[in-house]
Amino acid sequence: MTKQRVLTGITTTGTPHLGNYVGAIRPAIAASQQEENQSFYFLADYHALIKCQEPEKVHQSTMEIAATWLALGLNTDNVVFYRQSDIHEIPELTWLLTCMTAKGLMNRAHAYKAAVDANRAEGEDPDFGITMGLYSYPVLMAADILMFNANKVPVGRDQVQHIEMARDIAQRFNHHYGDYFVLPEAVVDDHVAVLQGLDGRKMSKSYGNTIPLFLPEKQLKKHINKIKTNLLEPGEPKDPDTSTVFQIWQAFASEEQTAEMRKAFEEGIAWGEAKRQLFELINGQIAEARERYYELLANPAQIEVELEKGAEKARAYAAPFIEQLRHAVGIRKIG
Ligand code: TRP
Repeated sequence: MTKQRVLTGITTTGTPHLGNYVGAIRPAIAASQQEENQSFYFLADYHALIKCQEPEKVHQSTMEIAATWLALGLNTDNVVFYRQSDIHEIPELTWLLTCMTAKGLMNRAHAYKAAVDANRAEGEDPDFGITMGLYSYPVLMAADILMFNANKVPVGRDQVQHIEMARDIAQRFNHHYGDYFVLPEAVVDDHVAVLQGLDGRKMSKSYGNTIPLFLPEKQLKKHINKIKTNLLEPGEPKDPDTSTVFQIWQAFASEEQTAEMRKAFEEGIAWGEAKRQLFELINGQIAEARERYYELLANPAQIEVELEKGAEKARAYAAPFIEQLRHAVGIRKIG
């Protein structure tokens, strides 16, 4: 059996939080350890420019995200872990695909439509503040995927439309120039927990309610103490199923530990105690990785070495493939 090629990108804005860890990083690292997969994970730094035009922030986030994945034990001998911008073939492919992409398809992209709707609601010009980067971002994403002929693309539900667009674009290219691209499939794992944040809404940078993954120990404790609870006193039974503390507990605990905590809630565990136990549980699972993380940030050259190794592996696929594609569209040497 040939290996399934699994590819996913991480936009390099912000600092990884517990929600990213549980929802994306932990399952990706687990998948990378499976023999039947060949995994490509990359830092989507060109995508970061769509949302963030502050150079220091883009750079810092790229470093932090790379350090996070490495610290958590991503085995870079087993997966291709690279920085998108190191693969010059990707923007080149983006152009070839742009010329095969219907403008009408891009008009339907959720992210663009949401921006237009927001402008309309404000009484602004519909295109106010919308860059071509935001508008044509699904083409860049298609290039990320098609460059490596990925079969499976694990993503959140909000990204499924982009994978469908990548398929459409690939089909049109294949139809016109010949069968070059594999049609990718989105993989959405509904079993993966979507963590709640400090205020009980989905943990997300845009709500400012996150618990960063590698906070120093004391701060981690402080953040966990800030999780919103109700006013029930110690001894009063508490409902685990409406509690953010319990919800986060579940994402880190074994089945047995989850059952025990459920019982403790019913028996009226104090919020302070439940939070103390939650801190111990999470801290126990990430303490070692956190230490490696800060070591890596103190030695960024080590991170760079890993990324350059990944870029070399990625380019071993991308460079010959882009040659074929250039030839296919008629961009060839003369004579
Ligand atoms: N746009 C994706 C997100 O915001 C990140 C991403 C960029 C990606 N390129 C990709 C994901 C290619 C999967 C495949 O989450």
